Amino acid sequence: MKVFNNKNQLSNCVDKFKTNSKAIGFVPTMGALHNGHLSLVEKGLLENDFIVVSIFVNPTQFNNKEDLERYPRTVNRDLALLETVSKSKIIVFIPSIEDIYEDKVSSEAFAFDGLEHEMEGAFRPGHFDGVGTVVKRLLEIVRPDNAYFGEKDFQQLQIIKKMIELHKLTTKIVGCAIYRADDGLAMSSRNERLKPNYRKAAPFIYKTLKDAKKKFGTDSAKEVTEWVENQFKKHELLELEYFLIADIKTLKPVKRKSTKKTYRAFIAAYADDIRLIDNIALN
Ligand code: PAF
Repeated sequence: MKVFNNKNQLSNCVDKFKTNSKAIGFVPTMGALHNGHLSLVEKGLLENDFIVVSIFVNPTQFNNKEDLERYPRTVNRDLALLETVSKSKIIVFIPSIEDIYEDKVSSEAFAFDGLEHEMEGAFRPGHFDGVGTVVKRLLEIVRPDNAYFGEKDFQQLQIIKKMIELHKLTTKIVGCAIYRADDGLAMSSRNERLKPNYRKAAPFIYKTLKDAKKKFGTDSAKEVTEWVENQFKKHELLELEYFLIADIKTLKPVKRKSTKKTYRAFIAAYADDIRLIDNIALN
């Protein structure tokens, strides 16, 4: 498996693929890979000749310094995992900070038609400017035909699609279904840090989302939200940060249900000091 540690090497390799009209897929990651990431790579391999997987813990998207410091870094294990998927069709790109930020580690300011103001944007100030900055720069280096993002970070997915539209970039953004553990917990690099009792409790998040989906068939968004908030109040280990039912296009909270719109329920909760997010399609 080819591993490139700087952007010029990667760019030369991409040039060769482009000359030979090879389709390039891209899976950007922050490492600490799990089966969710591998499912994106596998989907990408079905639709492209080669897949570039980037591993870069992007400092500008962390609004909390401790969260950045504690973010798991497991490059050797990540490489071994990727090799189990393909040795010949995966190119790993591990850029340096300078490759992405040159001498100034800061975000560009983006506007994503308001998508950035809700949920993760409201609770993690600056987060989406950091994500927008790194993804735009990675796309400029990798120049992929298709890029794969998981629906666990649904708001991020919608924001990246918006960035492609607003900046007239040519990469097609492909959203991929949430990959879950057998007990329903959405796969996340953060799950590794959960203490056993919190790991055991965490599937409550998805269970509550599924129950909320059932209730949304008959109840209003307000009633469902109150019900979810109460469920978490009663829970001994998990602390709800937000629950929101939103229109998938605008990500604005639903006021009155309409059969013409498509909704999703979004949740963020703390298990000890670890923040977990999840979401579910409602209709
Ligand atoms: O989803 C992630 O892991 C990150 O936000 C991404 C897209 C790799 C940008 O750093």
